Amino acid sequence: MKIFVTGGAGFIGSNFLELFVPQHPEHEFVNVDKLTYAANLLNLSKVDGLPNYRLEQVDIADPVAVAALFERHTPDLVVHFAAESHVDRSILGPAEFVRTNIEGTFQLLEACRRHWQTRAGLFHHVSTDEVYGSLGAHGSFTEETRYDPSSPYSASKASSDHLVRAYARTYGLRTRITNCSNNYGPYQFPEKLIPLMILNCLEGKPLPVYGKGENIRDWLYVTDHCEAIWRVIEAGQDGQTYNVGGNNEVKNLDVVHLLCASVAQETNTPEAEYLGLIKFVQDRPGHDLRYAIDASKMRQELGWSPRETFDTGLRKTVRWYLQSADWVRQVRSGEYRKWLDRNYGARAGA
Ligand code: NAD
Ligand code: TYD
Repeated sequence: MKIFVTGGAGFIGSNFLELFVPQHPEHEFVNVDKLTYAANLLNLSKVDGLPNYRLEQVDIADPVAVAALFERHTPDLVVHFAAESHVDRSILGPAEFVRTNIEGTFQLLEACRRHWQTRAGLFHHVSTDEVYGSLGAHGSFTEETRYDPSSPYSASKASSDHLVRAYARTYGLRTRITNCSNNYGPYQFPEKLIPLMILNCLEGKPLPVYGKGENIRDWLYVTDHCEAIWRVIEAGQDGQTYNVGGNNEVKNLDVVHLLCASVAQETNTPEAEYLGLIKFVQDRPGHDLRYAIDASKMRQELGWSPRETFDTGLRKTVRWYLQSADWVRQVRSGEYRKWLDRNYGARAGA
């Protein structure tokens, strides 16, 4: 099978490729990525050079580039990760979110519709629980929960989900959607809560907690998410949506305390040193209070459940950031961006 993995140089996509490219030499994996600030080719060092892996630098929102890509390769499966993914950035500048997340998904769906008229492939859309909006103190999101997105990011993802469903109903495209809770683990860009806090601890910088730190997220280790997606591809049903989550609700301030304790233990530093860096800052506008996923459909229909607990997953994550000094230095210093411009600048948008 030829598999397009869009956004394969980002956080979740690169974990997905690292897990499945070596496990499946019978499949050919094409990483379709624009290589934005969030991408990192260092994430792909374990798959780069394998015979069943290649990278195509393509902007999914560029119809000419997407059409040319589909002329070069016709996929049997598209696993669609590519997106602008950070809520705070979407508040500061929503345009790129509309462009990549809505327009980019549309261009991919159009290309699939054109190319799958005789040979039906599968379009797996990777989405988020944020499309459902905010929960109060009780309850959890099921696949039937009404969409009610709060941020430009979640609104753009909701819109892309609707387009995917519309292509299934209108054109008979084979599609599946997974809506997952917050991920954490190796290769996550340090603008998101968990890697930001780990690296700020190590650099003695303030740990900015929005509002009172009372917002709740349902954290899932990234490879558990990747395995859930693979399970849906293998055994899920067309036209269906699957909620993926860790059954692991934690308040932000508790996450930060756990991280301070974990980094302190790993570095033999008094925990108080890190706790003293916590700084309560102005809240995010439209900040969703609580997310919680009901993943019983994944469990009951597909036999999926997460392997990692928050304890084991956080320890692995903290150790990864501690052991990946080069990755961290390059991402933080902008050296990686310069390298990327030198190596790929001439081909940007190709
Ligand atoms: P990320 O920001 O780390 O990576 C996104 C990748 O997409 C990057 O490699 C980037 O270069 C690529 N990309 C961006 N714009 C592109 C374009 N126009 N054309 C081609 N490639 C482009 O994101 P992530 O955290 O790995 O998230 C991947 C997917 O999973 C997203 O669709 C996101 O909505 C979804 N998701 C993320 C989480 C999470 O906690 N991170 C949770 C649930 C769902
Ligand atoms: P984030 O990692 O940005 O994911 P999302 O907004 O998609 O859930 O943020 C996770 C939670 O942490 C969210 O409630 C916002 C909060 N947060 C902070 O308190 N401080 C920070 O510096 C960041 C980046 C996030």
